[in-house]
Amino acid sequence: AIFASGTGSNARKIVEHFQSSADIKVSVIVSNKSTAPVLQMAADYEIPTLVLNRQEFYETKNILKKLHAYNADYLILAGFLWLIPKYLCQSFENQIVNIHPALLPKYGGAGMYGMNVHRAVKAAGETESGMTIHFVNEKYDEGAIFFQAKCLLEENDTPEDIASKVLALEHEYFPKVIESIIKGKK
Ligand code: GAR
Repeated sequence: AIFASGTGSNARKIVEHFQSSADIKVSVIVSNKSTAPVLQMAADYEIPTLVLNRQEFYETKNILKKLHAYNADYLILAGFLWLIPKYLCQSFENQIVNIHPALLPKYGGAGMYGMNVHRAVKAAGETESGMTIHFVNEKYDEGAIFFQAKCLLEENDTPEDIASKVLALEHEYFPKVIESIIKGKK
């Protein structure tokens, strides 16, 4: 299952990557926003979708039944910004994977998402940034790191330039890394 709140460019890369796979399938795309463009992408590929309601997500375990109904073994967070509740972390231990647009443990935590991250990297005058793929626990961006890829930054790179360098790395590596996580654990 892919969880995504926004544009869904990573979700699209993941869907395209696994379209030809015999044993790994994107069975459902979950979003917390009914207007998220990622839902249209899911519709284009005829992938079922679920839209989360905050109260239901945090105060009931209804989503568990729904994910099991779709036979979801792994939850892939591709631009999903809500904290994953404890009951989900426990049911999918070491089976929830997140992508973060910086080199964790730097530039992680609550409020560190999207352009906020790239603006902070720019403000700190970093000479490199990158992306991190990690397992998810109950704290933002603190689960075990599985994979990182770096890019060099130029002094005159804007936060938007940094974002596009990092996004290119995400698109290049995230689907392949998901595949190796799933295959490595079978
Ligand atoms: C990605 O850059 C991802 O790393 C980031 O959201 C973007 C989603 O883009 N995630 C976070 O910031 C999580 N803290 P997309 O919707 O185009 O895939």
